[in-house]
Amino acid sequence: MRYRKFNYKSKEELLDEASSIGVALPYADSVSELLKPYELCGKHLENKIVIQPLEGCDADEKAAPGELTRRRYRRFVQGGAGLVWFEATAIVPEGRAQAHQLMMNEKNVDAYKYLVEEIKETCLKTKGYEPVIIQQLTHSGRYSKPNGFSEPWIARNNPLLEREKPIENSRIITDSNLKRIEETYYEAARLSAAAGFDGADVKACHGYLGSELLAAFTRKGEYGGSYENRTRFLKNSILAVRSATPETFIVSTRLGLTDYFPYPYGWGVVQENGSSKIDLTEPLRLIDELKSLVGLKVLNVSIASPYVNPHISRPYERGGYEPDEHPLKGVARFIETICEVQEKNKELPIINAGFSYLRQFAPNVAAGALEKGAGTLAGFGRAIFANPDLPRQLYEHGCVDEKRTCVSCSLCTDHLRKGCSTGCFIRDREIYHD
Ligand SMILES: Cc1cc2nc3c(=O)[nH]c(=O)nc-3n(C[C@H](O)[C@H](O)[C@H](O)COP(=O)(O)O)c2cc1C
Repeated sequence: MRYRKFNYKSKEELLDEASSIGVALPYADSVSELLKPYELCGKHLENKIVIQPLEGCDADEKAAPGELTRRRYRRFVQGGAGLVWFEATAIVPEGRAQAHQLMMNEKNVDAYKYLVEEIKETCLKTKGYEPVIIQQLTHSGRYSKPNGFSEPWIARNNPLLEREKPIENSRIITDSNLKRIEETYYEAARLSAAAGFDGADVKACHGYLGSELLAAFTRKGEYGGSYENRTRFLKNSILAVRSATPETFIVSTRLGLTDYFPYPYGWGVVQENGSSKIDLTEPLRLIDELKSLVGLKVLNVSIASPYVNPHISRPYERGGYEPDEHPLKGVARFIETICEVQEKNKELPIINAGFSYLRQFAPNVAAGALEKGAGTLAGFGRAIFANPDLPRQLYEHGCVDEKRTCVSCSLCTDHLRKGCSTGCFIRDREIYHD
């Protein structure tokens, strides 16, 4: 069965449907696992709930957080999550995914400092603790649109993505430009620490620059071909972040475990009988190397590409196309993939994601995933856009308000792709409407 309207009224209906399509969903009746405090790199997390990065495309004219950005994070922390993984923030102008994507530099860093202080204080006042905030630092590579239209910087051509219009060679980012960006990561991390963030993430997922290079089998030069070359940019950038910041500053990456493209364009995949299958050999090797290289102590993960195969990383009810698989298969695949990584890295806190399609059952499956070993901390994306009070509701009622759940309609991503400010167009209509 490919598709069914989400109208599961009970845990039993949901789990019956899952087993009818051969999927075993972990499900915890109690969400208490999510509400346990946790010590992350010497910092206190009030609970194991993580707000995954959610770009709002609402920077002001200086690329600093705008009014809507500040509103978003105030609402996020008032809801009571332990860890906020702050959205993709560009480190160079040409690497912005939208004209209104956040970007941090020497000139606007004070606005970030103000925002971090504001959200820490808001949380302290309303909840009695300070949340930990990790900033995602990015270059959008292939998906750069700094002036509102596509101005890509690609690792190498990918015919699967360029069927209609191949991207010209001049847009293949040069080795010397990559070296410059690695150095910029040093500067960006220094600013991130100065702004008061608790840590920074060198983004390496979703097909953006850091992620596309991992699969640059067909690229020539120092950053393509061999495993060592393909992982060079990420390692050098993370090392730059480490050397720019004090020891207490958390250095991490949001790593795409697989992009699910066929070889030679895919990372974390193997070809079997003409189709792509997840193969984590290289991602696992990279995680091991990052542990020794920079003492990686927390890993955020994702899979696939939100531009090409979004049903894999964020299963949905309505989106740009109808996938040829049931959304519950997508949820289960993500959980299984994380389980394999956590199993081989028992001591490393891993943050999972991809539960929002499950609406009111999302916290129970997230708690079940943690109990099963599919992650250490539970990440929520769209569910938080729709219902920033999710953690508070779990503390107070042990479940979320069904009238406030994400309905996975993809309106948030549709608006983001159009370069418009985004949030929840169903549950936060006062602000977000057409
Ligand atoms: C509107 C929107 C913006 C997003 N922005 C980011 C981002 O800045 N960085 C990132 O790593 N992931 C981003 N994501 C992906 C989410 O963090 C998350 O991985 C994804 O939505 C799946 O989790 P969910 O099912 O809880 O939504 C975004 C997703 C959406 C819908």
